[in-house]
Amino acid sequence: MSNPTSTSSAATSFLGIDALFNNPLFAGGIGLAGLGAAAALARRSAIQGAGLLKRRLIVNLEISKQDDSYQWILAWLSLPRPPGGFIASKLTRIHHLSMKTTSRSAQNRPAHAHFFLQPGYGRHIIRHKNAYISVNREKQASANLNTGEPFETVTLTTLYAHRHIFEDIFAEAHQLAVSAQEGKTIMYTSRGMEWAQFGEARRKRPLHSVILDRGIKERILDDVKDFMSRQQWYVDRGIPYRRGYLLYGPPGSGKSSFIQALAGELDFGVAIINLSERGITDDKLAHLMTRLPPRSILLLEDADAAFMNRKQVEADGYSGATVTFSGLLNALDGVAAGEERIAFLTTNHIDRLDEALIRPGRVDMTVRIGEATRYQAAEMWDRFYGDIDKDGNGRQRFLKRLEELGLVASIDGDTKKKNLHTSTAAIQGLFLFNKDDMDGAIEMAEGLIPRIYEPEAQKGITVPA
Ligand SMILES: Nc1ncnc2c1ncn2[C@@H]1O[C@H](COP(=O)(O)OP(=O)(O)OP(=O)(O)O)[C@@H](O)[C@H]1O
Ligand SMILES: [Mg+2]
Repeated sequence: MSNPTSTSSAATSFLGIDALFNNPLFAGGIGLAGLGAAAALARRSAIQGAGLLKRRLIVNLEISKQDDSYQWILAWLSLPRPPGGFIASKLTRIHHLSMKTTSRSAQNRPAHAHFFLQPGYGRHIIRHKNAYISVNREKQASANLNTGEPFETVTLTTLYAHRHIFEDIFAEAHQLAVSAQEGKTIMYTSRGMEWAQFGEARRKRPLHSVILDRGIKERILDDVKDFMSRQQWYVDRGIPYRRGYLLYGPPGSGKSSFIQALAGELDFGVAIINLSERGITDDKLAHLMTRLPPRSILLLEDADAAFMNRKQVEADGYSGATVTFSGLLNALDGVAAGEERIAFLTTNHIDRLDEALIRPGRVDMTVRIGEATRYQAAEMWDRFYGDIDKDGNGRQRFLKRLEELGLVASIDGDTKKKNLHTSTAAIQGLFLFNKDDMDGAIEMAEGLIPRIYEPEAQKGITVPA
């Protein structure tokens, strides 16, 4: 190899690297290329190094909208910051905020809307204690197929050295969420195939504000409490830990109000499905019932709707976009039914229900919540006028008037002049109209007589207690 010029063309291919280096032409070329390659290599490793450094020094925490903590964190981020900041927020640099409006009423009446500002989409830098944290809220390209809403995430990024700040933030955010809901009842409704909180948490309705006939509240409450104290008993015997209640009676007797107050008393939320609503199919019902929101009572309103639909199915073989009878039964105690549950069913039309529903495991306790009784009328009077009707004279006159009108039984027995009834909702309406005006309420008591009193309105009322 000492003499490159002597290489034959046949030998060249076997010469290898040395020969190439010895060739000035090639050697020059390789030198340049090598330099480029080395530079590229250096650049790449620099980037990798930075990446490594970044991975090593920086902690990311991603929270998706599906997670409960998502709203807590957003709420926490919107907290007024400690004194000094001119922007009332923890955000030290705000690019944009977004508005979250929650409406408390189903009708979306603007009067009941609540607003709060939360970090908008994009990147924000916040400072908490000694740490700087980058907050990135973004919508994902994909969407939740059940609700059609795009997926969303919030990513918190901070230095590795400050990673413990996350625990701190979560603890604060959780505490904030807990205290915001203290004394409140959370309502859930179905959105698509999933449960979603309905409006803001409501102030708890005190149980004593719902006036049912003598002993009814206590009976149900005792049963629920007894059930709740016996989980182990059920587990030991291999029985699904479930209990069902059916409340029936005319409209405006306090069924829904009682369930809400009961949930408040137990510190539970209420997950509501209205069975007469279109779009609630058997599949959807079953799906929703297997994944109830934690610590909540299931409330199935208008249970009779499922029974009406059975008739339709028999007639045309198609159930349409509503729940069927068998769909309801399956959801209540089929294989797919959730293991732990307290369910309340309500109906105005017990006559439309089927025996099959009222079976232990589906409905364990059936209670009639009826028309206003003398006892309830008196109790409601005291709640509204107790402070101005010290001697109870007004109450006596009111009850006497209701007797005359044939709306309640006389004091000594349940003989009634006429077979008329009124609802507790109507009495509440009368008292609300006559705030602080006892005489006005007594004068207008005639208005408690239901104006529409046809067989249709009577349906479900003429049911044995
Ligand atoms: N027993 C009651 N005690 C206190 N308030 C009542 C009572 N009954 C009705 N009300 C009041 O009347 C209104 C309607 O009551 P609620 O919705 O609970 O009735 P409901 O029995 O669920 O009626 P529906 O069968 O039509 O669903 C509420 O504002 C509630 O506060
Ligand atoms: Mg109701």
